[in-house]
Amino acid sequence: MKSIAVFNNKGGVGKTTFLCNLAASLSQHGNKKVLVVDADPQCNATQYMFDDATVDEIYEKGGFTILDVVKPLAQGKGFVKTLHVRKSQTFRVDVLPGDPGMSLEEDRLATDWVQATGGDIRGLRTTFLFSQLLSQCGHYDYVFFDMGPSLGSINRAVLVAVDGFVTPMSTDIFSIRAIDNISLSLSSWKRRLERALEDIADNVADLEIANPHWHLQFIGYLTQQYTAKMVRGEKQPVRAFDKIARKIPLRIEKQLVAHFTSRQRPADSFGLGSIPTLNSLIPLAQSAHTPIFGSSPNSGES
Ligand SMILES: Nc1ncnc2c1ncn2[C@@H]1O[C@H](COP(=O)(O)OP(=O)(O)OP(=O)(O)O)[C@@H](O)[C@H]1O
Ligand SMILES: [Mg+2]
Repeated sequence: MKSIAVFNNKGGVGKTTFLCNLAASLSQHGNKKVLVVDADPQCNATQYMFDDATVDEIYEKGGFTILDVVKPLAQGKGFVKTLHVRKSQTFRVDVLPGDPGMSLEEDRLATDWVQATGGDIRGLRTTFLFSQLLSQCGHYDYVFFDMGPSLGSINRAVLVAVDGFVTPMSTDIFSIRAIDNISLSLSSWKRRLERALEDIADNVADLEIANPHWHLQFIGYLTQQYTAKMVRGEKQPVRAFDKIARKIPLRIEKQLVAHFTSRQRPADSFGLGSIPTLNSLIPLAQSAHTPIFGSSPNSGES
């Protein structure tokens, strides 16, 4: 099983759209067993992958959500033993639905993190809560985490747990700044966590986490295709975008590849590709609650 977070400190760059469609494609075209964990309190992935009636049922009738995994531990009641997931029939993946109540857990997780970095076992157990969740997911090929665009404590707990992260990004100056932010935060989290784990080395078994350590790897980045203009019958990148696009690989290499990859990979292998602007297909797929590859721009049916 590989666990992968789709993460960028910048919002609205297509993280959720990419993640849900990749998950569906791996399941439907690659025959893989996939779980999507919606760790974003906005719950956009949950809303996209389930129809309105199912979303109503989850939130009005108290269906199992990510909050049921986080809350008991944050309240000192221990790890949840059984994970209840829900199948998205259209995406054909299992989903642990998100929960808007997660935003209220952000503060509690932040307090636990402060205690964790002081070597407190309970704080560390909370910090590793998604590692415990993943230990129950060995029967999946892939577990994907959708995340909000913050550098807050929920996202930190996800990034402590997963094997790696992929970063979709837009071609603007704020995306370049976001790379710097991510690098700074991850370096600080890694340093503080490793120090805390050294402090509790003699009592590490009390964590009840197999192999607790920082192992996050940067997998690569995706860029959104930007508008090109026609010059003498050929598509040319708009100059302002082009200038920024050329800065991205170097900044990624300096800030993410250099610190968060251990295996040797060619420098150009981190640019995983670019996502086309799909215009009307996106709202069509959203309202039909289907992957984009199941949507038709003409019929409006999937
Ligand atoms: N390939 C695409 N082409 C055109 N529009 C897109 C594409 N991908 C996403 N969008 C649109 O961009 C908006 C943001 O997409 P999405 O919700 O996937 O971003 P996000 O990074 O997950 O946002 P957030 O940071 O709020 O979680 C959505 O309204 C979606 O419809
Ligand atoms: Mg999103």
